[in-house]
Amino acid sequence: MNTDIKRIGVLSSGGDSPGMNAAIRAVVRTAIFNQLEVFGILNGYEGLIDGKIKRLEKGDVGNIIQRGGTILKTARSQRFMTKEGRKQAYEVLQANAIDACIVIGGNGSLSGALAFAGEFDYPFIGLPGTIDNDLYGTDFSIGFDTAINTAMDAIDKIRDTADSHNRIFFVEVMGRYSGFIALYTGIGSGAGNVLIAHERESINDLIYNLKLANERDKLFSIIVVAEGHPLGGATEIAKIVSKHLPNSETKVTVIGHLQRGGSPTCMDRVLSSRLGYAAVEGLLQGRHTEMVGIIDNKIAFTPFYQAINNEKKVEAELLKLVEILA
Ligand code: F6P
Repeated sequence: MNTDIKRIGVLSSGGDSPGMNAAIRAVVRTAIFNQLEVFGILNGYEGLIDGKIKRLEKGDVGNIIQRGGTILKTARSQRFMTKEGRKQAYEVLQANAIDACIVIGGNGSLSGALAFAGEFDYPFIGLPGTIDNDLYGTDFSIGFDTAINTAMDAIDKIRDTADSHNRIFFVEVMGRYSGFIALYTGIGSGAGNVLIAHERESINDLIYNLKLANERDKLFSIIVVAEGHPLGGATEIAKIVSKHLPNSETKVTVIGHLQRGGSPTCMDRVLSSRLGYAAVEGLLQGRHTEMVGIIDNKIAFTPFYQAINNEKKVEAELLKLVEILA
């Protein structure tokens, strides 16, 4: 146990994701269980730079496990991307005698923590908090399960109207350049096709398959499009496809931020609780500059550098599944 750590800080950063509150709760309660003092840092790195810090007790994180968003608020901090901003943040941590920090966030948030660690000898542990599920070193990130369930529910509803009107619906989901949300919601909703980044050629297959389906009198279809598709989002792709299928009616739905909100699923709450607990235990064991994730249902620590820079690939097996089951 690292007995030097007496006071820890916790912050959420970047885009919020359902389960962040459950993770904050787990961090706070595990820290208190270990006789540490815990401080919530508001508004992500922005609040850290500005010294927006408050002591958290067990009761402060009561009744939040079921809430989406983050009670600590969050931000995408431009200032923390600068050396000057990080220096200010370090001074705030020193002034408040906070010995270590836990950040819950995505790629950008962990990159910030990595840059900070390169400049100051300071223990940071990260939790993968992003609906995108694009961090290497964890099978699932906090919020992903809730987001895919939200998107799937939306697609189930779209399917009713698509079927009734014989329309082709292009549904755009979030996930930046990674296709995890698209792939999972596509499979879960029985989509006719899933278009994800790095799969530029699949648009030709899509057009071919839609024409075939038309000939078979299957007139409606759901196509899930990842927002980061190289040809553009769902609107652009719908335009291309309509040119080849002039007799079909195409519609576009962008699910947008709807998929970032809402009460976390049980899977997300359990994941967040496990990761929050492991982050505090990790710090006490002397770990730092690592992200705590889950691999094959076991807690795993991955250096920030790898979590950010190693590519997490979508499972080829899942892509094949879409093709076979469509
Ligand atoms: O990283 C999470 C995410 O929701 C992405 O899927 C999306 O591209 C982005 O954040 C949207 O960010 P913002 O809410 O800042 O517009």
